[in-house]
Amino acid sequence: MTETISPRDRLIVALDLPGAAEAREMIAALGDSASFYKIGMELAYSGAGLDIARELAASGKKVFIDLKLHDIPNTVERATRQLATLGATFATVHAYPQTMAAAKRGATGSGLKLLAVTVMTSYDDSDLTAAGYAFNVRDLIARRARQAQAAGIDGLVMSPEEAEAMRASLGPDMIIVTPGVRPAGADAGDQKRVMTPTLAIAAGADYLVVGRPVTEARDPKAAAESIVGEIESGLAIRHKTNRVA
Ligand code: C5P
Repeated sequence: MTETISPRDRLIVALDLPGAAEAREMIAALGDSASFYKIGMELAYSGAGLDIARELAASGKKVFIDLKLHDIPNTVERATRQLATLGATFATVHAYPQTMAAAKRGATGSGLKLLAVTVMTSYDDSDLTAAGYAFNVRDLIARRARQAQAAGIDGLVMSPEEAEAMRASLGPDMIIVTPGVRPAGADAGDQKRVMTPTLAIAAGADYLVVGRPVTEARDPKAAAESIVGEIESGLAIRHKTNRVA
């Protein structure tokens, strides 16, 4: 468990924006209110995302490259080796055993930490059935989490609803990162399993990924500050109830 991380450093702002101009504008608007950014497919595939990742890392911000790698092992290993050169702190892979083992090999000797994506937070049981899975969301997450731990993966991306049970079963060292976070009263959008920042942190999440509630806010800086305040409350609950070691 990562109890020494400051509340601000636990907020990861998802830069799900169309291009360099929008991303740089958002980074400037957030200023010191955000220290950790997630770059996903939209910004990466605009062509600007990886340059922005390098710039952010060089300016002292932390970067999470969320490209959810999944391919044949040789490709995943080599792609991960490239990501490790960007100065990123986190990168995601899908939690398939072959994929995780290959990414581990690619990250060897670098400071890059790997996070495995168990089940997308936009999926519920009926979506998994439609995709051909025999497991429900809970069982598939538990299975993939065990496989990630066995593969030596550093952390997991999961819905905040799963965080408490996962923390209990995986122990204190596995990093838990939760998207699907919505401040009270915010629009859930396409997320089906959401929780407030306070409750997600109280449940044992180490980091929260928040996109639209910050980037689509009229005042993104104020939105980020308010989420940092909610994270502080979550940590206070966690310490008071001693729910998480
Ligand atoms: O805008 P919103 O706060 O819903 O953004 C959530 C972010 O977290 C998006 O960038 C999405 O790709 C990512 N994510 C997710 N569910 C996962 C893994 C990643 O929503 N299981």
